Amino acid sequence: MTSDTVAAAAEALGRGELVVIPTETVYGLGADSTDAMAVARIFEAKGRPRFNPLIAHVTDARAAAAVIRMDERAQALASAFWPGPLTLVAPALPDCAVSVLARAGLDTVAVRVPDHPLALALLERFGRPVAAPSANRSGRPSPTTLADALAEVGGSVSAALDGGPCRVGLESTVVSITDAGVALLRPGGVTREALQAVVGSLIEVPDDAIRSPGRLALHYAPQAPVRLEADRTRNGEAFLAFGTAPRDQTGVWNLSPTGDLREAAANLFAYLRAADRTGPVGIAVAPIPDIGLGEAINDRLRRAAGYVG
Ligand code: TXA
Ligand code: MG
Repeated sequence: MTSDTVAAAAEALGRGELVVIPTETVYGLGADSTDAMAVARIFEAKGRPRFNPLIAHVTDARAAAAVIRMDERAQALASAFWPGPLTLVAPALPDCAVSVLARAGLDTVAVRVPDHPLALALLERFGRPVAAPSANRSGRPSPTTLADALAEVGGSVSAALDGGPCRVGLESTVVSITDAGVALLRPGGVTREALQAVVGSLIEVPDDAIRSPGRLALHYAPQAPVRLEADRTRNGEAFLAFGTAPRDQTGVWNLSPTGDLREAAANLFAYLRAADRTGPVGIAVAPIPDIGLGEAINDRLRRAAGYVG
């Protein structure tokens, strides 16, 4: 399957079918969030071992306010970062239409407004929140192109929109908003520093208090073992470089020759996949500075390497 129109994709959602949706972060596998059967198809298509909560995608902060309680902090974060790579987890409203399955039984819902014209056009046309995890089989790297998405879940979808390569390339930052404060549940496209500039300090939450599969070890893993903080390759390894690297050498993918973390984030999953496709004995990855977007990049790399986060 190649690519369909927004109208055809909205109709497929209305029939309870699955659709590949481009966003600025990664490609999503979308379904009508209010239809539990449709949501169940997402888990089935991804081969998810258990029902983890999904993000409900909406057109704007107003639509979000029909799903979750948008207090002052949520409003401030929404005006600063929506549309964009930020997901807000907040208490579900009593008449929230998002199905309990999409929420995995929790009394909170994760909501975001994607910054992509095709995603927004689809949400507008469909008119209901769309549940969409990344469009990969469970435990695999997130797809950042339509071709990668179709290679993962193409057999399960009845429509797919081609939005080109994803601009951000990393999933959204997930924050929870509770009486105790605002907590960073998953680093992502919006940096910790940018969040702090809007809400002040963030609170820490214990790992096991969060049902966030994005925090599981071996999430985002390619087939080949991944070795981090490598300054050179060993025999038969592919190499993901960052900054200065040997030019024109086979088996080397440079995440950003100029050392730009935004460029590295955008290339990360596509290069992990490209390196993996060559069937190396392993994938060595250069050190990435742990500042700004580097926090999310290193988080995904540690999980790809199988370290417990
Ligand atoms: O950029 C993204 O966020 C992409 C695109 C498609 O929007 N989506 C994505 O979805 O990465 P997914 O399902 O792969 O990750 C959703 C994350 C998970 O870590 C999940 O545990 C967390 O959000 N989450 C969802 N609902 C939650 C809730 N009620 N409480 C805590 N965490 C929640
Ligand atoms: Mg995912």
